[in-house]
Parts: sequence; structure tokens; C-alpha cells
Amino acid sequence: MTVHFIGAGPGAPDLITLRGRDLIAACPVCLYAGSLVPAALLAHCPLGARIVNTAPLSLDEIMAEISAAHAMGQDVARLHSGDLSVWSAMGEQLRRLRALNIPFDVTPGVPSFAAAAAVLQSELTLPGLAQSVVLTRTSGRASAMPEGETLENFARTGATLAIHLSVHVLADVVARLLPFYGADCPVAVVFRASWPDQQVVRATLSTLDPAIGVGERTALILVGQALGATAFDESRLYAGDYDRRYRPVGTDPRFPE
Ligand SMILES: C[S@@+](CC[C@H](N)C(=O)[O-])C[C@H]1O[C@@H](n2cnc3c(N)ncnc32)[C@H](O)[C@@H]1O
Repeated sequence: MTVHFIGAGPGAPDLITLRGRDLIAACPVCLYAGSLVPAALLAHCPLGARIVNTAPLSLDEIMAEISAAHAMGQDVARLHSGDLSVWSAMGEQLRRLRALNIPFDVTPGVPSFAAAAAVLQSELTLPGLAQSVVLTRTSGRASAMPEGETLENFARTGATLAIHLSVHVLADVVARLLPFYGADCPVAVVFRASWPDQQVVRATLSTLDPAIGVGERTALILVGQALGATAFDESRLYAGDYDRRYRPVGTDPRFPE
């Protein structure tokens, strides 16, 4: 018996990996994390599967579901939105499974920041403008931010920021970033990337209307010069005179064929 943690992707039911889909189809028990996991994915569950929405359950109740499946020798598909490496609450479940000696594995999913970048048709790391992406959030009721992980500290680097779980405090986010990125810095808010009701708002830090965040939680705030930029350097990798292993150039290449 194994608990298969599966990244369900950002929303569109075809943005799950083939491995994730096949695991869902093979498991007689499916535990899924609420409304951010698309209902269409549950159609992959086998006939008669036990399908449980864990949104209203406590961690103890979730572990009770897993322990019951373990006692019956039934594999469990454990679905969380996006990828499991960020804000999935997988860590605490794995700790308990290790303590109980219940086997598990992890299948990655498409994270929401990647889905949002795809919607924007943007590369978040453009030569000369940004070579780092910071996946972050602001403090919430359930999780305070560790000291040092402030928006201001990340903003000082000039990296592209992908700010999660924060659209309800959009005005505050903008006010804190303005002194570092400047009024003209591009910002995009992507609501429900890849869902049928997806929406995109593009602006600059000075023109963004903070009221757009009211009443909707599932959105990413992306900030940085790389967003929508046209004036950036081309990568040296594909420059005609760039000598590299797969394309030796010149009379004395570093990696002769
Ligand atoms: C609990 S976190 C889950 C993150 C997820 N594990 C991931 O890989 O993106 C929920 C937050 O992720 C972001 N998010 C998740 N799905 C999204 C989507 N389809 N479009 C935009 N933002 C999304 C929002 O900021 C939301 O508040």
C-alpha cells in the first residue's frame, strides 16, 4: 500500500502529468484538497472509489482516512493543487506517514506561477533584466512570514516576484514594492490561471487598481521588469559566435568534435 501525493496542476484538468493521471486511475481511494483541484480530475478515479474532499477535515481526520486505507491495503491518491513543493501542507503529512511507517511517493505538478507565466506568454528570467524568480507570499492567518522573508528584502534584489496568497492585500503589496521597483514597473495579476474563468490584469505599479483583488483569493501577483519587456539582451547561448559543446565554433573550439 502506498500514498501517492500528486500535484494536480493549476486548474485545467489536462495540466496534470500522465503519471499523476494514471495513479489516480489505479487508486481505490482519492483524497483531494478542495475546490482548487478540478472536479474533472476525479473522473479518472476507478468505479466505486472512495473520493473524499479534505478541505473541511483536520490533519488528524485526513490521517485517519489514510490509516483506514492502509489497514485495508488500499493505495491512496492524494491530490493537491499546483505542485506539492510549495504551500501544499504536504510536509506535515509526510512527517506523520514517516512516523507511522506508511509508504508514500510524490509526483510533481504544474505550479500556478508557471501556469500564470504561460497565460502571460512571458519568460520570467530575461537576460539583463531578471535571472531569478522569487516564489513568495505575505503573512496570513494560518502562517506568519519568517523574519527576513519580507517583500522589501526580496524587492531589493530586483528579481521577478511571484506573490501567492496575497491578492486580498494588493494595495499593501503595491505600496511596499513601489519604492524598490518604481512606478513604471510592470505588474500582472492572473486570476485562476488555466480555469475557464481565468482573468488577467496588466498594469504598472502606479496604475494598478488595488480594488481588483477584492473578493477573489485564487490569483497570483507577478511583478518585475521582465514582464512584457521587449528591450532585453539575447541569451549568449544561441549567439552565432558562441562556442559550446553542442555547436563548436571557430578554429580552436573548446569542445572539438
Ligand atoms: C495554497 S497555495 C497553493 C500553491 C500551489 N501548490 C502551487 O503550486 O501553485 C494557493 C495560492 O496559489 C495561487 N494559485 C493557485 N492556483 C492558481 C491559479 N490557477 N491561478 C492563479 N493563482 C493560483 C494563489 O496565489 C493561491 O492563493
